[in-house]
Order: sequence, then C-alpha cells, then structure tokens
Amino acid sequence: QFAPRVFSGIKPSGGLTLGNYLGAIKRFVEMQGGDFETIYCVVDLHAITVWQDPAELRRATREVAAGYLASGIDPETSILFNQSRVSAHAELGWLFNCVARVGWMNRMTQFKEKAGKNAEKQSLGLYAYPSLMAADILAYHATHVPVGDDQKQHVELTRDIAAKFNHDYGVEFFPLTTPVIEGPAMRVMNLRDGTKKMSKSGESDMERINMTDDADAIAKKFKKARTDPAPLPETVEGLAERPEAKNLVDIYAGLANMTAEQVIAEYAGAGWGQFKPALADLAVEKLAPISSEMARLMDDPAEIDRTLERGAERARAIAEPILARTSEIMGL
Ligand code: ADP
Ligand code: NA
Repeated sequence: QFAPRVFSGIKPSGGLTLGNYLGAIKRFVEMQGGDFETIYCVVDLHAITVWQDPAELRRATREVAAGYLASGIDPETSILFNQSRVSAHAELGWLFNCVARVGWMNRMTQFKEKAGKNAEKQSLGLYAYPSLMAADILAYHATHVPVGDDQKQHVELTRDIAAKFNHDYGVEFFPLTTPVIEGPAMRVMNLRDGTKKMSKSGESDMERINMTDDADAIAKKFKKARTDPAPLPETVEGLAERPEAKNLVDIYAGLANMTAEQVIAEYAGAGWGQFKPALADLAVEKLAPISSEMARLMDDPAEIDRTLERGAERARAIAEPILARTSEIMGL
C-alpha cells in the first residue's frame, strides 16, 4: 500500500561531525537511486528548540545543505530541502501534538539527557520535538528512516503516533515506519569520553571530528583521543569492555566500508602508535574531498538557497495533500 520511501534529516545546530557523516549522510547517499524514493531535509525547526543566533542558523542551514551535496546527495535524484519552507511539517506537528500523549514524551531519553536537571527551563518545543519529527516522517508517508542509534526511540514514537491515529480514526492512513540502523558506526562516541555521543554541540572541539576539519586537526584529534594502554585485541570480543578502543575501530570500519571484525583481523595486536595515524590518514582521505567541495559550495550561498527552494517545491507537492487528507479525516 505504501511505496518505499525514505525520509531523514539533520539539524543545522552547529558544524557537521563525523558522527553525522557515518551515522547519517554516508548512508543517505547509499540509499539514493535504488528501490527508495529519497527525501532529505535540513531540519531548522528542530534546531530552534534550543537558542540559535539567527545569522548563524542561516549559515548552518546552508552548511548542512552543502554537506549533503558535497557527500553525494544529488538534488535531482533525491528531494533536498529546508524544513521551515514546507509549512506542512509544523501543521502536521500540531495535529500530532493532539494525538501523542504526555506520558509518551516523558519517556524520551534524549529530552532527559538534553534537559538534565533543568527540565522546567527548557522550551516547550524541545519537549514536543519527537512529535514534530513524527510529522516530518509521516508527511511523506515515509516507510524507512535511516538514522543513528540515538534516534531509535523517536522513530518508535513515530510508529506509536501513526498506530494511534489509524486506530482512533479507523483508517490505515499512516505507515508504521521502520528505523534503519545498520553498519559499524551507528553511535560514534566522543573522542575524550568514550561513554558520550559525538555531537555538534559538544563542549570542546577536541571531542569531535568536524566534517570541515583540515588534515592537521584530524591527525591531532585522533592522536589525543583517549584510549586504554592495551594494544588492539586479537578478536572483536576483546573490545567488549573497552568503549574508547571500540569507538576508534568502529570509526575505521565505517570509513573503510569494513566490518569491525575485518578491521581487527588487519590490526590484531597493533599499538595505538600504529592504529591512530592509519585512522587519521583514512579519515583525511575520505573527508578532505568533501570538505573542499563544501567550501566551494559555501562560496555561493544563493545557489544553495535555489537548490533548497526547488527541493521544497517538490516536497510540498507530496506533503500538502497528505496534510489535507489528515485534516479531513480529523474533521477539520
Ligand atoms: P547532532 O546530535 O550531532 O546534533 P542531529 O540530531 O542533527 O545530530 O542528527 C542527525 C543525524 O545524525 C541523525 O540520524 C543522528 O542519529 C545522526 N547522528 C548524530 N550524531 C551521531 C553519532 N555520534 N553517531 C552516529 N550517528 C549520529
Ligand atoms: Na541527535
């Protein structure tokens, strides 16, 4: 009943990281041009759930778009656009606020992590974020959502919203979307603390690899990355209690299109003095062409804006009829 369709997005809330590349963009490129229609979004309405400087938000929106394009998203094959330019997202988000339950939001671990002890001081938008994310996905009847592991719970909530809507109104209007979380680097960790996710908005720049980092910065950051002193194990099982070592092996595997087993087979017993420079070289080899193309694209912001606007027109053509039918089903 539902055609195979992929939707996913990235927040323009800072510079893109290696986590965004391996957990999201690289996989978006791989899903393009195959069995799925692919729709990729810069989700600026999600970015403003925490304070964003307006000029910086505009710049970051173009930078995320440039990251998609430079990594190989083809704006003809895929639909590439900026969320706030398609008003159906916000409208369907409101309708889903009236379907989702407060108790469901209270279970979201990402809100708890982001809010910390200050839940009362957060924006209402940060709390309701997963309901807007459900709208992003379901406005296109997307059947599959490639995401990193941190977004799994939100895609499950999207399924809950779709199921409750279908049940309450006695329809089979929304698909139960499948999260696609596959590959060795679905949770890239911080380089200084192997228990925390690498994030755009992390505290220190040394904790993360940015997609725009130059070769020197990449080499320096991997060199300083925290590890235990033991060499690489003889088998992947030996990574079990070693989060920092596992993270670096997973990053290598993601960049090289290998499994962690294959990386360990190649580097069994190697010391960090051998592995870290090899990892840095590999990261530079993969990221340098992307970051130089990003810089080239960022020199012409008007062209990026035109590309996003053409994508928004195509996105509206799908989302508006789905929003209209949703309203009709609800009696609006
Ligand atoms: P961030 O957390 O860096 O602000 P977003 O929330 O915009 O990133 O997420 C965009 C996509 O990148 C999502 O699919 C998310 O799961 C993925 N992603 C973000 N950080 C990581 C990471 N450290 N490892 C793997 N995937 C990640
Ligand atoms: Na995230």
